[in-house]
Amino acid sequence: MCGIFAYIGEGRDATKAVFNGLKRLDYRGYDSWGISIVEKGEIKTQKYIGEINRKLLTLGRSRSAIGHTRWATNGTVTQINAHPHTSSDKSYVLAHNGIVENFTKLKSFLSKKGYKFISDTDTEVILRLIEYEYRNEKDFIISVQNAFNKLDGRNTIIILKKEGEVIAVRNGSPLVVGISEKNNDVYFSSDTLSFSQYVDKTITLENGQMAICNDKLTIINTKDNNEVTVNYDVNTIKGQEYSKDGFRHFMIKEIHEEPQIIEKVMLQSKKNILKLANKIKNSTTVYCIGSGTAGAAAFQSAYYLRTFGGINAIALIGAEAKDYFHLFKKSDLIIALSQSGETADTLEVIEFAKKVGVCIASYVNMPGSLMTKISDYKFMANAGPEICVMSTKVFVSQIVWGYLLSKVVQGKFYDGLSNLRKTKTAVSKLLKDKILDKKLDKIATKLSYEKDLFLLAKGQNLQIIREGMIKLVEGGYIHAHAIPAGDLKHYAITLMEPGKYLISVISDDENKTDTMNAINEVKARGASVIGISVFPDKIYDEYIQVANLGETSAILNIIPLQLLAYKIAVLKGNNVDKPRNIAKSVTVK
Ligand code: AGP
Repeated sequence: MCGIFAYIGEGRDATKAVFNGLKRLDYRGYDSWGISIVEKGEIKTQKYIGEINRKLLTLGRSRSAIGHTRWATNGTVTQINAHPHTSSDKSYVLAHNGIVENFTKLKSFLSKKGYKFISDTDTEVILRLIEYEYRNEKDFIISVQNAFNKLDGRNTIIILKKEGEVIAVRNGSPLVVGISEKNNDVYFSSDTLSFSQYVDKTITLENGQMAICNDKLTIINTKDNNEVTVNYDVNTIKGQEYSKDGFRHFMIKEIHEEPQIIEKVMLQSKKNILKLANKIKNSTTVYCIGSGTAGAAAFQSAYYLRTFGGINAIALIGAEAKDYFHLFKKSDLIIALSQSGETADTLEVIEFAKKVGVCIASYVNMPGSLMTKISDYKFMANAGPEICVMSTKVFVSQIVWGYLLSKVVQGKFYDGLSNLRKTKTAVSKLLKDKILDKKLDKIATKLSYEKDLFLLAKGQNLQIIREGMIKLVEGGYIHAHAIPAGDLKHYAITLMEPGKYLISVISDDENKTDTMNAINEVKARGASVIGISVFPDKIYDEYIQVANLGETSAILNIIPLQLLAYKIAVLKGNNVDKPRNIAKSVTVK
């Protein structure tokens, strides 16, 4: 949520470097954007509503600059509310990622002291608080630290001074520093990928750390002002590029990457998975957690751990996990799933659990995240950049990893691998199936006119329809409702009538009869049924055939749902890669 970027150095023009950095961060928010530079000892700023656009940028060259791309929280989408915000004396500008949870209290305190506010943002409160602190303190760095330590919530800020100095402070919301030794350039950003092609080394700032950079980079602790010995990481993703590879959208490109993604999970070190599997076996309760799509993956992974590993695995949605906090024990294990590794709702659970001694494992895609840093067992999806705001390939990676992990717990690693090999082949085949593609086009056309869609499944496919629902809501802007097959008769049956569509996912397993019974009940009320199944049945109004993969069927079954959501989004002319109102990395609660 919101992207912040800064550059200071000799190798590049800071204005262009920040502009290009922001372009790569726009998945974090695309309501408005802004850039500030230093020109002849003065700060110049340009801010705009809407997509980042090169034609609008007329700022000149600079040695240092900061920029921001906004996902609005406090304050509507206006140019005044766009970042960076300028200090009253125009000697510095500030951009922010996070939410100042006590901003109303701070704003009223500052207003009483005579401070005036021109925007509706919580960010401006930080700026005025620094000014207030500076009035007494007279040391800028200490004033920033004092102000920062008064903020509640997860906040990261970046400041550009008219002397060209860049100052960044992190608490919760992500902040990575990148260094190119050859050019003596320093980058600051919400993620590593946005500057990865230019840097050799990175530093993931920890909560409460401040970076100050002009001629040299210094990192200090905001609590005691002591300098920190920096641990550099080698930049391992230097070659990774953003490209649609000839596809129309990132979403469809990323769906087509899924066979390779399955392969990548199969190449994960058996030794590492075994270590985690042993920990799982010795834990009292295993909590799998995630948010949104990663939440559906967490539920699917818990399902696999219970079914194949015989483990007491419970799945939790990040933002709804609080009522479990008092149950967390030292003998428990949390497995967190996240594309970004920076999702505030998930991080908050981990941070709490860590304090009470719960062991943490994570499966993350984005390198250099806080989630990975604080985990005892760290796993990387290595799925490459997922640019589309809708997660597809990383969801597949997560559930494949969850499956493989459960097979290791079961002591059947090689069976798991062999099943995944077949799954990969089936996914490849399905993605190349031209007849199926045409059929999906036809179904998507029908469904794109619908206001409400229903999905129904049981057992291994239950989370698959939940994830299908998420994709239809996000991409198609259609209200979708995922119904557990057995629960249909308890409530949702009231909505089944002629003209309604229900998509059902059925595998040839112990849940087939129950699911078919539910479908019969739907058909008896006159609704139309689209069946995604290994076997045809005259009950289906439309039939999408999938291969019979036994216990890995669910992994294949998500693909037609992802494709359907993509096709509907395209047909409706929606912004496929950046659906309205959401951002890829949700770093606020
Ligand atoms: C995915 O399609 C969503 N946009 C969203 O639900 C996402 O999965 C969620 O915000 C969690 O993100 P994470 O994987 O980075 O933790």
